[in-house]
Amino acid sequence: MPLDQRTTLTQFLIEQRRRFPSASGDFNALILDVALACKAIARSVAFGALGGVLGAQAGSINVQGEEQKKLDVISNELFVRANEWGGHLAGMASEEMDEPYNIPGVYPRGKYLLVFDPLDGSSNIDVNVSVGSIFSVLRAPQDVIDSGRDVTAADFLQPGCQQLAAGYALYGPSTMLVLTVGTGVHGFTLDPNLGEFFLSHPDIRVPADTQEFAINASNSRFWEPPVKRYVDECLAGKTGPRGKDFNMRWIASMVAEAHRILMRGGVFLYPRDTKDPSKPGRLRLLYEANPVGFIMEQAGGRASTGREPILQVQPTSLHQRIGLVFGSKNEVERIERYHREPAPLKDDNPLFAERTLFRD
Ligand code: F6P
Repeated sequence: MPLDQRTTLTQFLIEQRRRFPSASGDFNALILDVALACKAIARSVAFGALGGVLGAQAGSINVQGEEQKKLDVISNELFVRANEWGGHLAGMASEEMDEPYNIPGVYPRGKYLLVFDPLDGSSNIDVNVSVGSIFSVLRAPQDVIDSGRDVTAADFLQPGCQQLAAGYALYGPSTMLVLTVGTGVHGFTLDPNLGEFFLSHPDIRVPADTQEFAINASNSRFWEPPVKRYVDECLAGKTGPRGKDFNMRWIASMVAEAHRILMRGGVFLYPRDTKDPSKPGRLRLLYEANPVGFIMEQAGGRASTGREPILQVQPTSLHQRIGLVFGSKNEVERIERYHREPAPLKDDNPLFAERTLFRD
């Protein structure tokens, strides 16, 4: 597409801002700083083995008890450095930092909070499969803005419906930034020659129906009955109660799965399960589930714990984990319905049904 017909991310943000004549421009500047961090991460990721960035960071374990990769640490640093100086933020929180990050005294403090997972899907780094960054922007509590005090974890514990913006960068065959500022979802592709994001996917919509699901099936013995029922019915295909065949995908990079679902529909499940009773789910609420939930809902999809809309959940801790289901609206609603309904009996004959006198 010729350059004069392209819309840059900057132009897109300025045009959005014109709808709010009193806006200061801080918000746009913040999103551009986030985009800069994503471009820098894209470059590091692209160099792969040649950049000396693959592999584990020796001796480094994050707050989740997970081994940090070198690129996790580099990406976190790039996010912090790109966003701490601009005067737009009151504080940041990241998957890779145990505690909230306070803006150093040499820089002004602003009214927004930035929450991020700097490199999602990091088990894929060393095998050259797509990874991504996820971010969410919240408004800082008024007393933080008024006083300029240090932030605490409690300041970030806001339900997802209070997000002002959310997005992700996908470092795949091409680098993309997908963003919502509450007016639909828009995708930008990085032109690596110009180092600029251009609007390539305006107003993305998730189809309401799908025949594709994504779940880590190695956890099936730990699933709760509604999830087991849903997956069994998909696997039964044409001959089962759904009357149609389903396809399955699992990339193990949530950003990449979310992007596929935005592009062609589908449903993603990393549900609450019984694998580890100390972890009510695998994914993190504040910087994985909430931003993806906001994006899905803005694209006409749905995001849920299975029991309630993800964006309604009141967070209780910074690194809280949660069960997450998102994607095509009708499928997510079906999974929510299965969580409300008692499990159906497999056979009309109670002697052979799933729950009978003869079984546990
Ligand atoms: O940290 C989260 C994450 O890497 C997601 O991107 C991905 O969906 C999930 O973990 C993969 O988990 P598992 O290794 O259990 O398949």
